[in-house]
Amino acid sequence: DIVPVILCGGSGTRLWPRSRKTRPKPFLPLVGDETLFRATVMRCPPEEGFGDPVVVTGAAHLDLVEEQLPDPARTRVIVEPQGRNTAAAIALAALTLPQDSVMLVCPSDHHIGDCTAFRAAASNAAALAEQGWLVSFGIVPTAPETGFGYLKQGSEIEGSAGMRVERFVEKPDLARAMEFLASGEYAWNGGIFAFRVGTFLEELGQHRPRILEAVKAAVAAGKADGMRFYPDSDAFAQVPSESVDYAVMENTTRAAMVPAVMAWSDIGNWQALHEAQACDEAGNAVRGPAELKDCSNVLVMSDGPRVSVVGASNLMIVVDGDEVLVCTPEGAQSVGKLSGAANQ
Ligand code: GDD
Ligand code: MG
Repeated sequence: DIVPVILCGGSGTRLWPRSRKTRPKPFLPLVGDETLFRATVMRCPPEEGFGDPVVVTGAAHLDLVEEQLPDPARTRVIVEPQGRNTAAAIALAALTLPQDSVMLVCPSDHHIGDCTAFRAAASNAAALAEQGWLVSFGIVPTAPETGFGYLKQGSEIEGSAGMRVERFVEKPDLARAMEFLASGEYAWNGGIFAFRVGTFLEELGQHRPRILEAVKAAVAAGKADGMRFYPDSDAFAQVPSESVDYAVMENTTRAAMVPAVMAWSDIGNWQALHEAQACDEAGNAVRGPAELKDCSNVLVMSDGPRVSVVGASNLMIVVDGDEVLVCTPEGAQSVGKLSGAANQ
């Protein structure tokens, strides 16, 4: 079995006003009918060879997680007293699983349009993970994004669908990201990983022994309550906060990747969300009551009032409760800087 480990932490500001502190991005139906979190869990069903999922989430999001879980009776939930980033979150799951299991670590705030391709990549990645590789999903890069990790593709691994990762660079600056993109030798790290539990813990112990020891202590002093597990809060507070990308992936010599062409988007802002929607021929997408006339490339999302737009192009309009956001593709990256988003 491949065990889905679903990470549900942090909250962003770039999808404000739809996403709010109390109702963050994973828990919203942003594309299609399901929320991103539910879609993530449902992408890994038992009939496709996936084991019982493990969700790692913060205490603040526990209610939303349990409300939205498709199958609570078979899902373990690990409740972090506070966020200590992804190396610790993955270690929490790993320390409660058999050494030989293969974990498929999935962020809960992405959209994947092609589930069949996702599952094929997952099975290729799991086969490599069984052999001791730490496997990333490689996405074909389309822009010099600085918020992603970059994987330098190395030689093919014989008898597999993957290749070695010669270099893993997390969040390069713009100049380097442009260089990587131009070289044609790099893929984006999709943030989805396949690890054999034992291999992951070994590598974490080798490169970040303090994280491993502190998480072990928090698990040892933790408490189970039905399907929930609560790591000890004082012990967990001592865990150094670092992402798995910096802590492990940049340092390991066992990094590999499988190419994954699966209509992936991290829906990092309104522009990316617009691109992930089913649009009409003119590039318009509407969710909620709206009327568009002579428009192109317009996104309207409204949870109440009817929005009427005429003669506009390249515009995103979001109505949510008592907030209205109007934004251009160029402005999408800066929504988080608005005072409404910053002080929500
Ligand atoms: N449970 C838990 N606890 N989950 C967490 C925590 C935490 O402390 N911190 C982050 N997460 C979850 C987030 O909710 C998200 O689903 C996932 O882990 C990744 O965290 P992000 O904070 O979104 O990471 P990122 O977007 O900056 O970078 C990662 O993803 C990119 C692709 O979207 C990296 O893996 C990059 O290399 C990658 O390109
Ligand atoms: Mg992210």
